[in-house]
Amino acid sequence: MPDSNSPGYARRLREIQPFKVMKLLARANALQAAGHHVVHMEVGEPDFPTPQPIVEAGVAALLAGQTKYTPAQGIPQLREALARHYADEYAVNVDPARIFITAGGSGALLLCSALLLNPGEGLLMTDPGYPCNRHFLKAFSGEGQLVPATAADDYQLSCASVAAHWQASTRGALLASPANPTGALIDEAELVALAAYIRQRGAYLVVDEIYHGLTYGATRPGSVLAIEPNAFVVNSFSKYFGMTGWRLGWLVVPEAAVPEVEKLAQNLFICPSSIAQYAALAAFTPRARDIMEQQREAFAGRRDFLVPALRDLGIGVARLPEGAFYVYGSLPAWLADSEAFSQHALENYHVAATPGTDFGFYRANEHMRFSYAQPLDVLATGVDRLRLALDSFVPA
Ligand SMILES: Cc1ncc(COP(=O)(O)O)c(C=O)c1O
Repeated sequence: MPDSNSPGYARRLREIQPFKVMKLLARANALQAAGHHVVHMEVGEPDFPTPQPIVEAGVAALLAGQTKYTPAQGIPQLREALARHYADEYAVNVDPARIFITAGGSGALLLCSALLLNPGEGLLMTDPGYPCNRHFLKAFSGEGQLVPATAADDYQLSCASVAAHWQASTRGALLASPANPTGALIDEAELVALAAYIRQRGAYLVVDEIYHGLTYGATRPGSVLAIEPNAFVVNSFSKYFGMTGWRLGWLVVPEAAVPEVEKLAQNLFICPSSIAQYAALAAFTPRARDIMEQQREAFAGRRDFLVPALRDLGIGVARLPEGAFYVYGSLPAWLADSEAFSQHALENYHVAATPGTDFGFYRANEHMRFSYAQPLDVLATGVDRLRLALDSFVPA
């Protein structure tokens, strides 16, 4: 803390809130360290270990001395592997020269924030949404311009809601599909209309595809790049590829932005982790793919267990989440205090779930996010404990 003689830290810090789930996780871990069995339904990462072929490639990279700086944009082999991934998975042609390897999707969001906004300008985004997005923008004196989203809007931006919320300072829109905390996909026709609207305004479209691969419907969503080649696409090795702690992601940018983004990447990070990049080359092998697909099926089974189980408890799930590993549930009307309930459930029943207030403001205290990145038996225990917590909660 600055002392009374210091000038104080930058004003922007007043508008950047802590990421509550990290505090919740720390408390849950402290209870666990004290000997309690805690059910973690707050976590935002797969419970599975990194697939073995990726781990082996990481070890081999270390032993081979791949421990030096790489080009700021990332190693050419990985950018080429990603270009092949776009061709195979989405039938989209992406020049590897447009791909930047970053420190997770977070590094990609940071680059976008630095690139796109002047002070006071903003990007439209959903409320609820991934909270760090608006804080990334704040770090560059921009702002997340929040658009309330409900189950009736598929919890997504739409052409109509974006047009209705457009301000003089708006420079574009940022959306995630599948989204955090709702697991909702944007409807493809809606994305086409939204992209056309943004293009006509000469604005920016940023799409976070970090939960791609983790969708559970009969068809897989396409990349926005098939609709709008000039979109900025954020992605990551964290979720589908199970590499959260390796800190590796990527950003696809329009060709004209490459020199500017390269300048930023050089100055902000020098380069992404060399070891993680060489490890990630193995993420595209059939062996790794098989493992990741098995995990996807496990997630689908867990979602299909958790959604009806929560509904049985009186927690509303207005829309079946199509992807990611979260259920965004509405608390019974008599309760509607997600922060107090989250604390009660953790402290007294040792089940951790994230209050809706971590994801925005719109009806946030009426909602909680339940992660199903846990085995089925653990989720079943979590549901039992949630029932006890609901039965014993006394609203203030
Ligand atoms: C929607 C969304 N975007 C980006 C991130 C950042 O993840 P990472 O930096 O690990 O890729 C997360 C993490 O939970 C997320 O949920």
